[in-house]
Amino acid sequence: MVSGIRPTGKLHLGNYFGAFKNFLTLQEQFDSYFFIADYHSLTTHPTPGDLKSSVRRVLAEYIALGLDPEKCTIYLQSDLPETAELYLFLNMNAYLGELERVTSFKDKARTQPNNINAGLLTYPVLMAADILIHKGVKVPVGKDQEQHLEMSRTFANRFNRLYECEIFPEPQAFSVGQKLIKVPGLTGGGKMSKSAGEADSIYLDEPAESLNKKIMRAVSDSGPTVAGAPKSQPVQNLFDLMDLVCAPDAIAFFDEEHKKGSIRYGDLKKQLAQDMEVFIAPLRDAINSTLANDKKLDEIAHFGAEKARKSARTTLAEVREAIGFKPL
Ligand code: TRP
Repeated sequence: MVSGIRPTGKLHLGNYFGAFKNFLTLQEQFDSYFFIADYHSLTTHPTPGDLKSSVRRVLAEYIALGLDPEKCTIYLQSDLPETAELYLFLNMNAYLGELERVTSFKDKARTQPNNINAGLLTYPVLMAADILIHKGVKVPVGKDQEQHLEMSRTFANRFNRLYECEIFPEPQAFSVGQKLIKVPGLTGGGKMSKSAGEADSIYLDEPAESLNKKIMRAVSDSGPTVAGAPKSQPVQNLFDLMDLVCAPDAIAFFDEEHKKGSIRYGDLKKQLAQDMEVFIAPLRDAINSTLANDKKLDEIAHFGAEKARKSARTTLAEVREAIGFKPL
């Protein structure tokens, strides 16, 4: 199993109940590789300082929240030059026409017309290299990545055919068979999302004070006007958030109050803020202490890179031989 994590800022509650909890299950079930996709992030030309700090943050967060370097292989993509070499080989059989038709490329080309670089065009090739370098078969990704995975299969099969070998298996998108947990944001819209602004998200390292403030300021409505009126979307969102962290009897109480038309949203928010703090506090402490421990993070990255390179070197030796190169 292979999964790439983009180093894009802090994790919030939605990321936690969405992708991250699945990772905890996956590391128990599979020989799993998780890597931080820092080569990929170069398409937007981050400064060295920004690159370092965002990579560090994801690594710290994933470790603090329970990815276990003994159970899975966690590494930085840029610590695995074998990926870059495989990317070069795969690029020789990736065609301009098919790359230009990729939806994510077309979107980027539209939104950043001044930076349509070749790395962007060949993003699916690098992604295929990430997966194929470990002969990955299971790739836990969302719907938006399905087209990229389809291309990984194309490149894998094309390589096998061209060199008359069976080095690469076909990677498949894969979702963990758990029911989807809904995590709405605080501003009355849909899913919790960074793009909906700071006030929408609860970060996993959210300080107690701003956590309380964000929840007390969350969007609700002007209150049920008649008993038995259905919940508005923003109010349903607050109940959905309660489902994540509050005791069933507290939820039942506010549900009853809403039905009677006598609910006080201030009280509901107070309860939610209190229980959310109980949930977030240990995560926040773990993230902060991991983030402060540079030595531990370096060791983990080093340990992961060694494990990953072992698997990568084996694949690359076969690949070089199939092409007609000496082993390194
Ligand atoms: N493209 C993925 C995303 O945007 C990240 C990614 C890069 C990835 N390489 C991968 C995911 C390999 C799975 C496997 O989320």
